[in-house]
Amino acid sequence: MSEQNTNALFLGPKSENHQFFRETLNMLMDEHIYWRRDFHPDDKACISHKEQRTEDFCATMDNIQEALYDLSNKLKNSSMPWFSTRYLGHMNTDVLMPGVLGYLAGILYNPNNCAYEGSPATTGMELEVGIQLGTMMGYDPEKTWGHITSGGTVANYEALWYARNLENIPFAIKSVIPTFFGECDDWQLLNLSIEETIDALDVVKKEGLLTEVLKDLRYTGCDSDKMGKLLIPQSRHYSWDKAVDIFGIGSKNLIQIKVTENYRMDIDHLKETIDRLIESKTPILAVVAVVGTTEEGAVDDIHKIIEIKEMYKKQGVNFYFHIDAAYGGYARTIFIDEQNKFIDYNKLKTRLSKENFINKSTKWPNRDVYEAFKAMPHADSITIDCHKMGYIPYPAGAIALKDKRILDILAYNAPYVEGKNDPLLLGPYIMEGSKAGAAAGAVWVTHRIIPLNITGYGKIVARSIEAADCFNDRIIKMEPFVAANGKKYIVAPLTMSDINIVVFAFNEVGNVNLDKMNDINEKIYNRCSYVSGPVYYKRFITSKTILTTEEYGDIPYSFVDDLNIPRKEWDRVQKVFVLRACIMSPFLANNTSFKEYWDRFIKIMQEIIDE
Ligand SMILES: Cc1ncc(COP(=O)(O)O)c(C=O)c1O
Repeated sequence: MSEQNTNALFLGPKSENHQFFRETLNMLMDEHIYWRRDFHPDDKACISHKEQRTEDFCATMDNIQEALYDLSNKLKNSSMPWFSTRYLGHMNTDVLMPGVLGYLAGILYNPNNCAYEGSPATTGMELEVGIQLGTMMGYDPEKTWGHITSGGTVANYEALWYARNLENIPFAIKSVIPTFFGECDDWQLLNLSIEETIDALDVVKKEGLLTEVLKDLRYTGCDSDKMGKLLIPQSRHYSWDKAVDIFGIGSKNLIQIKVTENYRMDIDHLKETIDRLIESKTPILAVVAVVGTTEEGAVDDIHKIIEIKEMYKKQGVNFYFHIDAAYGGYARTIFIDEQNKFIDYNKLKTRLSKENFINKSTKWPNRDVYEAFKAMPHADSITIDCHKMGYIPYPAGAIALKDKRILDILAYNAPYVEGKNDPLLLGPYIMEGSKAGAAAGAVWVTHRIIPLNITGYGKIVARSIEAADCFNDRIIKMEPFVAANGKKYIVAPLTMSDINIVVFAFNEVGNVNLDKMNDINEKIYNRCSYVSGPVYYKRFITSKTILTTEEYGDIPYSFVDDLNIPRKEWDRVQKVFVLRACIMSPFLANNTSFKEYWDRFIKIMQEIIDE
């Protein structure tokens, strides 16, 4: 088969592939029309041609068209032009054509993946995609299970749901079968390994007592103080704060682990925290790490967390381990070869540069990032958003589990959505009810076209990483420049992202006031966002964030120091306003106009400062 051409996969920033898109959409529409017509061809039409020519019929259709024009105008006036290379903001860019076409095809049939009955076509696709994503994370395809969620937020909620129920199920088992765990005390029950708990559940199931045990688990509810603490880095997505609220765990039971200078979880602090908890006999509900933090694109040292997890296991202390790879999940495809094997480090480096995936000057990945991605299959579950680095339209988050037997602890049965012989089931095991089968169709068809390996998705994601590296490099090398007001300005990146997010800020040369620096960057952001009017007229669009001491301690200080802000100012203001560019565009790297693009970008930034 010939090589995948990335430019053929997108509609394109200038709708370059519009002809193909339109023709395929028409073909899909035709297919749908005939599908309806051919269903019991003898059935009479419900709407006659005569009626279609009546005044009220035509007026009603005019109404539909007018309203849709109105919708279209509103969409064109104020939607985000994610597709453009001028958009470097949130986790968005152009989406893959098969994903959009797959979604549009799917929505014509409006399948509901909650119950197999409502979606015999797309439930299977969702479960197939779940296994593909689990396999992409390195899980055993025979054992893994996964599915599509509305987003990373709900995937994270589901992970916490599993963790919480797994922590509690031994007590439910003990309540139904008092002798089951012999002499184990509460501390031991709270520290069973996930495998031990699932094995116990298997035994209960074989003895026909699963329903009883689940009843007990649900009747009692969960005592959040008894369950212990959720350990998660300061850099976590805010869905975790919502999660502890929703699950009644309480923010007092969420312990923030500090981050290091490169915004990865501080493993020493994690260890200290675990030791402290063991000393006070406080159990650990779960440890959550992030692969691709929302604000910085940092990749936590998963391999080091696994190492300490193993160490504590020997001491009889176990915990659930989840990875929030909502953003970075698909980047794992870069490390997977065509035989679905994780590629050796040196071989990977050679392949990346020789086969032109990533420019030779790009140092990515460093050893830590490589080892972190390699260790991912040791996690109990992983959040992976197809609608982020999977380049698929919303709503397509996902979760993958290492061991599908975990599902037994959820299983909410509802006779009106399930049949005795349903081959595939989703509803009983997920947080959502009704859910778009079209989203599953979109992911399924895209995965069919783009393999989840280095030559498929890897190629697309690698291009974005190279572009981010180039952007970072240009910022570092940017000389102080004189603006129209005669003042000189400098710019600096926060840190070298582990994937493809570049965070940066400007300061006026000689300015030592952090409020003033924050103000400069906020003004730039306002100019480059919806804040100052319709984005359609912007030369460049970006996003922003604010790094505070409350969230990050003093870690951002070295960055403000790079911009010549003194320590006492950091201590006084305790926050820094930064510009944030998730560089997801596949159209920036390996491009002849690459240098030209960044030159133009730098010029636009200078113009904005002039203004
Ligand atoms: C690391 C991380 N986790 C979870 C989420 C939540 O994903 P969603 O917005 O799809 O719910 C995000 C979103 O940015 C994220 O970056």
